[in-house]
Amino acid sequence: MSALIAPSILAADFANLQRDCELVNNSEADWFHLDVMDGVFVPNISFGMPVIKAIAQHANKTLDTHLMIVDPDRYIKTFADLGVNVLTVHYEACTHLHRTLQAIKAEGMQAGVALNPHTNVSLLEDTLKDIDMVCIMSVNPGFGGQSFIENTYSKVRSLKQMITDQGASTLIEIDGGVTNKNAAQLVEAGADVLVAGSYVFRSEDPTSTIAGLKSITA
Ligand code: DX5
Ligand code: ZN
Repeated sequence: MSALIAPSILAADFANLQRDCELVNNSEADWFHLDVMDGVFVPNISFGMPVIKAIAQHANKTLDTHLMIVDPDRYIKTFADLGVNVLTVHYEACTHLHRTLQAIKAEGMQAGVALNPHTNVSLLEDTLKDIDMVCIMSVNPGFGGQSFIENTYSKVRSLKQMITDQGASTLIEIDGGVTNKNAAQLVEAGADVLVAGSYVFRSEDPTSTIAGLKSITA
């Protein structure tokens, strides 16, 4: 089976966002990946609600929003109102993760949890059945265009095993440094969703780059 492909808009041309949204709409991509950074949880600031509102007016696929912010609970309802479908918070930013997950679902969204490269997947053992998607960060969050961390493969395999053991239906998303060099191995290890920013938008032909990722099967 092929993975869901989620181009990261962080690498799009912000002066031509409508054009790049149409590109993703008309490609084989499955989702839009939207990175929200607050300059506190990560050392960078990306974009927030007004930009997501503009994207939502043009995007006609699932909006997968990755919150790299402290205290994400404050904004759950706001993102639901903007039309976000999958809302991912960082494990490291949530003191009461279980409560946060319930709050996301109560707003009608799918709940995702992202793990920094140093965070062990076993920490999700007691919440796995409440998590619709785990986003394994394969770079340190904050910037596009970084190199893929090789330890990611073993994290994917461990998480996949945990999901199977618990009979959970949690999806595994990989975010950071995804290219045609690692995508097949990631899908083989158990990845369900591949986020790709620079690899897609810095390529000669983003539409065929997306098609290439989509053609990879386990
Ligand atoms: C990094 C972001 C990623 C980023 C991926 O903090 O979460 O979604 O856009 O970009 P690439 O694919 O360029 O590593
Ligand atoms: Zn992301």
